[in-house]
This record gives sequence, C-alpha cells and structure tokens, in this order.
Amino acid sequence: MSNEASSTPTMETLIALCKRRGFVFPSSDVYGGYQGFFDFGPLGVELKNNIKNAWWKDFVHRRDDIVGLDSSIIMHPKIWVASGHVGGFSDPMVDCRETKLRYRADQLFIQAYTFTSEETENQSHYVTVVESEDNAAALAARAKKIAKLLSKKTEAKFSVGETEAEIIEFTEADHAQQTSAWGPDAEAPETLTEPRDFNLMFETKVGPLADSSATAYLRPETAQGIFANYKNVVDTGRIKVPFGIAQVGKAFRNEITPRNFLFRSREFEQMEIEYFIQPDADWQSLHREWIDKCIDWLVSIGLPREGIGEDVHPAHKLSHYSKGTTDLTFDFPHGVQELWGIACRGNFDLSQHQEHSGKSMEYFDEQQKQKYIPHVIEPSLGVDRTFLAVLAAAYTEDEIPNDKGQPEKRSLMKFHPRIAPYKVAVFPLVKNKPELVEHARTFYERLQNRWNCFWDVSGAIGRRYRRQDEIGTPYGVTVDFDTIEKGAGVTIRDRDTTEQIRLSEDEAIAWLSEKIDG
Ligand code: GAP
Repeated sequence: MSNEASSTPTMETLIALCKRRGFVFPSSDVYGGYQGFFDFGPLGVELKNNIKNAWWKDFVHRRDDIVGLDSSIIMHPKIWVASGHVGGFSDPMVDCRETKLRYRADQLFIQAYTFTSEETENQSHYVTVVESEDNAAALAARAKKIAKLLSKKTEAKFSVGETEAEIIEFTEADHAQQTSAWGPDAEAPETLTEPRDFNLMFETKVGPLADSSATAYLRPETAQGIFANYKNVVDTGRIKVPFGIAQVGKAFRNEITPRNFLFRSREFEQMEIEYFIQPDADWQSLHREWIDKCIDWLVSIGLPREGIGEDVHPAHKLSHYSKGTTDLTFDFPHGVQELWGIACRGNFDLSQHQEHSGKSMEYFDEQQKQKYIPHVIEPSLGVDRTFLAVLAAAYTEDEIPNDKGQPEKRSLMKFHPRIAPYKVAVFPLVKNKPELVEHARTFYERLQNRWNCFWDVSGAIGRRYRRQDEIGTPYGVTVDFDTIEKGAGVTIRDRDTTEQIRLSEDEAIAWLSEKIDG
C-alpha cells in the first residue's frame, strides 16, 4: 500500500524528470538548445501520440457529426490576409539598446493603478502591483530595481502564486519616466525603444524567387486549413450542418518571449475543431455543451476536475468577430493559465474567405430550404500544453514498503492507463531459468500485439517495479515459478496501490484490456 506524501511538482522538477527519463529534450541540445523549441524523446513521443489518439478517437471516431482533415502547413499567403493574421496577428515589442534583448511590451510594463486611501482623503496614488502570475517573478524583480533607483520603500508584501511581490508607491511622473523605459536586464535606465508591433508569423520563401511575391508563412493555427477546405468537405462528403471538421497538426508562432517550458513555445501542435452550426442556432447552449464536453475529456485522460477552471472573456476583451469565448484553464506549476480556448467565431472566417477568394462559402440547408454561411464554434487545444498538464497532474511522491518491509520514498507518474507511454511491463522473476524467461517472453509478445509493453529481465524485482513507477507504467506482470510449475497464472501489480492479483494468462489479458481500453 502506498502512503501519498506530496504531488505538486515545480516546473524545474518536471523539466529535470523529462530530460532524465527521455520525455522531452531541449531542441538542438548538443548546440546548447534553441529557445522555444523542444524534442520529444522515446517516452515523450508515446505520451504525445496517446494524447492525440485519445482526442481523435473521442472527437472524430466516436462521433457521427465530425470528420477529420490534414491540411498543409504552408498555404496560399492570401489565406493569412483574409484571416486577418497578416494585418493583426502581432504583439507589441520593445528592444533594449544596451543588452540587445527583445521583450513583449505588455508583459514588461508594470501596471499602474490609482487608488484612494482613507488616510490621504481621496488623494490619488500610483501603486505598482504584479498582476499576472505568468511573469510575476520578472515583474516583481523589475519593480524592486526601479524602486531602488528612485529610493522608494516597500509599502507592503503580497504573493502571486508562489512569488513574493511588493507594493511600492510611485508617483505618476516616476512611473512614466522610469518604468516604461528601463530594460529589465540593463544596468542603466532609459534603454528601451518605443513599442512596435511584431507579427508572430514565421515567414519563408516558396520557389526560386527571393522577392516579396515568394513570401509565405508557416501556419500560426491549424484552423485556417479547416476553413479553406470547408467547401471541399461539404461538396464531397454527405455531412450536414451541424457538423465539425477536426485537425491535429503543427503550428508555429515567433513568440517574443517563449517561456514556461512547453507552455509557450515557437513550434507546437494544436488539436482544433471547427463545428459549423446554423446562423440562428442557440449558440449559447451549444457553446456550453462544448465547454462541458471538453472538461469531461480532460478528466477522461486523468486531469483532476478541481484543477480545471473556466475563464469567460469579458465583452470588451473579445475579438471583433467573436460572440463569446471561454478558456478552460489548468492549475499549471507556474500558475493558473489557459489550456483550451472555446470560441464562438460567428461566420467571420468563412465570410472573409468568400470575400477574398471570390468563391461562395454558402451552404444549402435542405431541411430549411435556404442558403447561408454557417457560424462556427471552435474548441482549440494545444497538444503540448495538454502534455504539460498531464505531466504535472501525474507526478506523485509517496512512501511504500521496500523488500525488507521498511518505508521507502518513491516518485511515480500516475498516468491514466489510456495515455501512459507503456501500458504493461513484463518481468520474468529470475533471469537464469531459461524455461521461465521463455514463458514470460511468449506472454510478453502476446501483450505486444495489443499494446506498447516493456520487457525487463535485469535486477531485483522491487527495483524493476520502481523503474516502471517512475515512467508511469500502470501494470507490471510477473511470471514466477508457480506460473510454469503449477500453471498458476501470472501476477499483475498495480502501480498506484502496489497491490497484486493473480490471474490465468487469458484472464490477465481480459482484465488488462478492461483497464486500459475501457
Ligand atoms: N484557432 C484559434 C487559436 O489558435 P489560440 O488561443 O491562439 O487560438 C489555441 O490557441 C490553443 O493553442 C491555446 O489554448 C494553447 O493551448 C495552444 N497554444 C497557443 N499558442 C501556443 C504556444 N505558443 N505554445 C504552446 N501552445 C500554444
């Protein structure tokens, strides 16, 4: 039996575990890494594929109203003009003249708020606070630095997530003069340029010409590939509104400040659905249904329900075409942040493509006997953010008895069996009895026909169990003397409880199938 001690890993713990066990490596590691890019190792690629396959199975195969698509990463540049990405997919950016580093202006500037204090009877003060948990540490450090320069004292302390921040009172003039111009890594103040808009799309050239007519973009979202193919899918399939098109694939964004490991990277994968509905459908109810379905799915792959939140975008923050957006958030190691965006985009994208391509995007609804451009609900989920959430949720430290019955600390990954990299590990109890090893190997090969399994013959059985616990293999099957001498079947050990049951080999396969495939 296990005695759970702690289960909230820091990002550093996860990054170290990912590297040590072969889940995720920094990209181009031998050259010192490449910021914002990652490589998935032998265990990582299994976990990632299992997440994508579970999503595809539940949202495409198990539904009659959603079909799949795999569109190209580089598409006609006009698509990105029509979608608004060429004109508007940008972040404000500032450069530091001293360090030559580049920052996102909206993440850098310390927020100033007026407040009215009872003591000073309605006089206005400016207080510097740290607002976002995402960059709390950087902002807190910056506030302190500016306060030192201006000889300001800390008025009070408070916490944002795990970061200690300080409230420092600035006058409006201080704020304007100092906080907007000082590079966080610079020695001297007044080093930052004015903010400029920086388009996040990666540019490339297609064909032999190097002029601007050859400019193309790596897609910053998979969604536009769906809109661009909507007509093809409607014309060739027998699908009727309401219906969805789903796509899983790479997306690229030249993020100014990639951060928090896999959370914000420059190359990532998305799992997106465009769900087309009638213009007069009750979109609020359909939106709610999608939010609930998405929450259920996250729970089905092992995320704790209490870690999932809803962030409803207020009306003034919605894009001009959006009728409503709710982000599902997750309690990541660096704070509560967006995991899954579920947006009602109206008919903005299809209308734009109709206008820019000159091709009709209208759909003829046979039941209603009318033509319309469908509206759309868009659940858009990042594979890498899901991967990070799954890792954080699975990480557990506890104590279990060792071979001598004394308590021993262990760290384990409690992956849901659906997405665990290896489903079953098979161990012959000893390695120097050929008959036993051969029997175990035959059983292992039977299991291998169905699942990704692990074969381990070396070391004490307790050590072998522990190795599997650390990489999250949910079941360990041991072939022992009773298996071969008495035909007594095999034992199956449960990773989380460490409890064991003994079953015949056929029963064991049926039992595992029930647990793994549901
Ligand atoms: N088609 C809509 C769209 O792309 P988004 O909110 O920009 O919307 C959707 O992105 C999801 O993609 C996010 O909720 C997140 O899970 C993931 N995502 C976005 N940018 C990312 C990045 N730089 N690194 C990792 N994942 C990212």
